[in-house]
Amino acid sequence: MRETIRDVLVGDVSQVPPGEGRTFAVAGRRLALFHTRAGEIFATQADCPHRGGPLADGLVGSTSVICPLHDRLFDLRTGQGPEPDCGIRVYPVSVRPDGKIWIDIGN
Ligand code: FES
Repeated sequence: MRETIRDVLVGDVSQVPPGEGRTFAVAGRRLALFHTRAGEIFATQADCPHRGGPLADGLVGSTSVICPLHDRLFDLRTGQGPEPDCGIRVYPVSVRPDGKIWIDIGN
């Protein structure tokens, strides 16, 4: 069965300084956007699956974030966490020429 693609506008690149993350509320859910120092944008669920830490406040690496509460590291490309059952949801991101960030929130 084919998944429904739902692109939603989340914000603008200028709202997320390089090397940081920000939390946004869109389409009834909370998301975290990360802007790496290399200029890449990633989108994930906002809350850490361990104990709900605010991932957007974590330490952002080139392709990872470290949760600010208990230092678990998550891969921003795949959502992989430190254990097989402790990953995060990641969303496909599209940054348009006007700087707007759209993500596919799927179903
Ligand atoms: S709440 Fe994120 S590692 Fe514990």
